Amino acid sequence: MSTFRLINALKRQPVDRTPVWFMRQAGRYLPEYRALREKMGGFLAMCKTPEVACEITLQPLARFAVDAAIIFSDILTIPDAMGLGLHFATNEGPQFDNPVRDKKAVDRLPIPDPENDLGYVMEAIRLVSRHNQQVPVIGFCGSPWTVATYMVEGKSSRDFSVIKKMLYNEPAILLALLGKLMQASCLYLQAQIQAGAKAVMIFDTWGGVLTGPAYQQFSLHFMQEIVTFLKKSAPEIPVILFTKQGGQWLENIAQTGCDAIGIDWTQNIKDARKRVGHQVALQGNLDPSILLASPATIKAEVKTILADFGVGCGHVFNCGHGITPDVPPENVQAAIEAVQEGYIV
Ligand code: CP3
Repeated sequence: MSTFRLINALKRQPVDRTPVWFMRQAGRYLPEYRALREKMGGFLAMCKTPEVACEITLQPLARFAVDAAIIFSDILTIPDAMGLGLHFATNEGPQFDNPVRDKKAVDRLPIPDPENDLGYVMEAIRLVSRHNQQVPVIGFCGSPWTVATYMVEGKSSRDFSVIKKMLYNEPAILLALLGKLMQASCLYLQAQIQAGAKAVMIFDTWGGVLTGPAYQQFSLHFMQEIVTFLKKSAPEIPVILFTKQGGQWLENIAQTGCDAIGIDWTQNIKDARKRVGHQVALQGNLDPSILLASPATIKAEVKTILADFGVGCGHVFNCGHGITPDVPPENVQAAIEAVQEGYIV
């Protein structure tokens, strides 16, 4: 048994109450985050300054009784370290100077050495681990497929036409890129664990835009390889896989050997538990838009999810995707209180 509620729930061991944390719990909905961002002059500069990344990671802990601290960073640190030239233009999302479009570009990509090339992330994790012993630090990376969408498209996309064209016309090039990202992600998560991360999560935000067979071959397969690697190198560390819109593939995701599956709100958690609850813990699944409603509505919706999951082990409360910038912090507090109360009151 761990002393941490989150870790016990991820391992489907008994807990005194359902643990709760939020994707994007450190971010733009917090005025103290926005103030620091103004001072630092940009998101990437904050990620790359360990003292600042540590401070932002801890900001939600100063306000709320959340059960985890997700390290303040981004899934695009790996392609940045590979030399793609990453920028975050204000309100425009990420952009790469050198998108990856052909075999030559894939062949040229180095596999970053975590401590040398991404040392700022490990240093931030070490600082957070030193400054807080209350809750575990969650390390993370993007899924190879999700990170590749940004590298190939060069920016956020609506229809993923460039990478899908590559997938169907030149699959070998895409598979080579995904293989490199998989290798880099294994080393990156291993280093985060060595630096103090007590659980890790793989964000597959865009796996759900693929067909079933393409999801298996181009997304899940590479996440499976990462899980297998981590289960050998750090077997005690829980691994959470989150494929947004991946509800139809829960059985396949559970078979990777991951400890927990993140589910979005399009899936009923009761059904999800029936399908895979004997194999994995479930993390989710409030629609983050509900955090824009009144505290009374938020509490009712939280309690519905807790009741749908029902009694027993293996639930971590979260939203089904990140907190959006327009959410009032007091509404996050209302959701946390509802989780703390539980559904039988
Ligand atoms: O959850 C946390 O609080 C930890 C930090 C975290 C960030 N990004 C900080 C961030 C995590 C876990 C991520 C993951 C991430 N990054 C994903 C996967 C999860 C998801 O949200 O779907 C993706 C797809 C990215 C890539 C990314 N980073 C995009 C598309 C954008 C711009 C759009 C947006 O949502 O802001 C970012 C920027 C980003 N990452 C911000 C933060 C706090 C906003 C930066 C700012 O403007 O201050």
